[in-house]
Amino acid sequence: MTFAAQRPAGAKPEVYRELALQARGLFEGERDAIANAANLASLLFYGLDDLNWAGFYFLKGDVLVLGPFQGKPACVRIEMGKGVCGTAAATRETLVVADVHEFPGHIACDVASNSEIVVPLIRDGRVIGVLDIDSPQRNRFDDEDRAGLEALAALWLAASAP
Ligand code: SME
Repeated sequence: MTFAAQRPAGAKPEVYRELALQARGLFEGERDAIANAANLASLLFYGLDDLNWAGFYFLKGDVLVLGPFQGKPACVRIEMGKGVCGTAAATRETLVVADVHEFPGHIACDVASNSEIVVPLIRDGRVIGVLDIDSPQRNRFDDEDRAGLEALAALWLAASAP
């Protein structure tokens, strides 16, 4: 089985459609949440341009704890309401940050990061974690990324056992 042998080309909606197809293939017959998160982190990291980090944090108690990711080692624990991840988790809304240096309380794990998008993972009305993507390029993420990544997060939620 080979996936993402080539980075999908084209406009962003097409790229995300292709990534969603590949994610469905990777998740098929697999309900393990960590395994599926690991594969989605890798699919995104190698499938999207200009990223330096892609991965998950899962809510344990009231703290976000590092999950599967691709990129440099990252901060392990983020409190609810702190940083971009904790803010997206607390507000339960996708957060697109054009310049992380302008975001009050941004937590710098990799100095290369300049922009970031964080999608909260909501199961049965409860936040269970976040999908976090970082880029060295300022203003890397827009509404098309938001739509594409929310769709991929929904696929992961549907495929993976609680
Ligand atoms: N920048 C994030 C921390 C996680 S790393 O980017 C991997 C934040 O401010 O929450």
